[in-house]
Amino acid sequence: MMKQLTIVLALSLQVLSTAAVAIGNPNQPYQNITTLQILANTLVEAGSPAAIVTQRWNDSTKTAAAGLAEIAREVRARSKDHFRGGSTTKPWTAVAVLHLKYLGNLLPQSPSISIRNLLQMESGLFDVARDPNFQTPATRYKYWSPTELVQHGRIAIPITLSSECSFEKVTGKPIADTYESVILRPLRLRHTSFPINATTLPSPALHGYLGDSNGNWTGNATSDLTDRNPSFAFGNGNIVTPGHDLAEFWGSLFAGKLLNQTTFSEMLTTVPTNSTGLGGIGSLDYGLGVYSLATPCGTAYGHVGVIQGYQILALHNPSNNATGVVTLTTNNPPMNLVNAYIGTVLQLLCQKFE
Ligand SMILES: *[C@@H]1O[C@H](CO)[C@@H](O)[C@H](O)[C@H]1NC(C)=O
Ligand SMILES: *[C@@H]1O[C@H](CO)[C@@H](O)[C@H](O)[C@H]1NC(C)=O
Ligand SMILES: *[C@@H]1O[C@H](CO)[C@@H](O)[C@H](O)[C@H]1NC(C)=O
Ligand SMILES: *[C@@H]1O[C@H](CO)[C@@H](O)[C@H](O)[C@H]1NC(C)=O
Ligand SMILES: *[C@@H]1O[C@H](CO)[C@@H](O)[C@H](O)[C@H]1NC(C)=O
Ligand SMILES: *[C@@H]1O[C@H](CO)[C@@H](O)[C@H](O)[C@H]1NC(C)=O
Ligand SMILES: *[C@@H]1O[C@H](CO)[C@@H](O)[C@H](O)[C@H]1NC(C)=O
Ligand SMILES: *[C@@H]1O[C@H](CO)[C@@H](O)[C@H](O)[C@H]1NC(C)=O
Repeated sequence: MMKQLTIVLALSLQVLSTAAVAIGNPNQPYQNITTLQILANTLVEAGSPAAIVTQRWNDSTKTAAAGLAEIAREVRARSKDHFRGGSTTKPWTAVAVLHLKYLGNLLPQSPSISIRNLLQMESGLFDVARDPNFQTPATRYKYWSPTELVQHGRIAIPITLSSECSFEKVTGKPIADTYESVILRPLRLRHTSFPINATTLPSPALHGYLGDSNGNWTGNATSDLTDRNPSFAFGNGNIVTPGHDLAEFWGSLFAGKLLNQTTFSEMLTTVPTNSTGLGGIGSLDYGLGVYSLATPCGTAYGHVGVIQGYQILALHNPSNNATGVVTLTTNNPPMNLVNAYIGTVLQLLCQKFE
């Protein structure tokens, strides 16, 4: 994750300015809807096996898909495809934990680790999926119990709660039920799940791929990274979702549908990470499972996700109520793809497609 994020965040302003204005006029608040499909196609031309591009603006969501959802069987990507969202899981976990914190003393009173420390863990810049010593081909289908994860130093909020504070015993429910009661059911998100031991994706599935050192992809069994046991990323990176649901989450969070003012303010209270934001504009700050960063059309909030075979960026721009989600089906994109990806996200945050 560190290498990947460094590449994503260290882009110069110069690179950004060409990427952001690649299509359309950035000063024009509206954009021809056909352009949404062109943006998805461009990401595939830049080297992603498939790309899904989603924009939500007020209550309206538009999505475009391009490329192949499964190379070996030549299945085309569809807007409703499910993918692994990696660390885009963290804000959902933060919302669940904030509810629990305020609903009683269910959280551990550890003298050394506060809730804020845990949710701001490593400023969110570390992705468990990128640790070569933790995830190897030999552990691809291994089930990691919460206790084993803690022993490996993989302390995520729900893991800590379940193993050290008996979170699951206290509430009598697994963590998945907490996401369900505080997010999925109120928002009627029926296509999002947080699998712990299921190794395949629900249908329709968007497969994720590993490129070779040139960034070339094949549909062979080695390069298809989709199937794996997601327990290693419990609470941190195990979301499986379509782009539409990710956008709905961010729009709803900022519309006040998930947290009240007290808890929402806590979530958005950020610390500097000393990293640069998208395209090198301004700084990147981190709150409770949420980044804030400058864009040419206002401060945006959201999260990046990188997990084997996938790279996702989901951001919300409160100044115009736009949410943008871009999903790539590789986690080692070449530089031209990274540029196209950032330009696309900025366009989704700044221009309404209709
Ligand atoms: C939208 O863009 C497409 C492709 O550039 C173009 O063919 C079409 O005429 C445009 N539609 C409108 C209403 O501008
Ligand atoms: C979004 O909703 C707000 C409030 O109803 C409205 O003022 C605004 O024009 C809408 N934006 C778009 C782009 O439709
Ligand atoms: C943003 O959109 C939501 C609907 O998802 C709406 O409830 C809210 O009022 C809008 N906010 C603004 C500032 O337009
Ligand atoms: C805010 O939400 C939390 C969690 O749902 C709840 O426990 C708390 O009472 C709420 N606070 C206010 C001021 O409504
Ligand atoms: C995980 O799934 C495997 C394979 O189906 C099964 O053998 C194992 O018991 C499961 N572990 C847990 C903790 O559910
Ligand atoms: C792999 O990518 C490189 C650089 O983009 C290209 O020159 C080469 O032809 C590709 N190789 C194959 C086998 O597609
Ligand atoms: C399978 O894909 C990987 C990654 O793209 C590549 O390095 C490898 O050479 C491929 N193997 C075969 C047999 O095509
Ligand atoms: C950011 O830089 C400041 C000043 O050098 C330092 O005190 C702080 O620990 C750094 N924060 C992180 C998250 O690295």
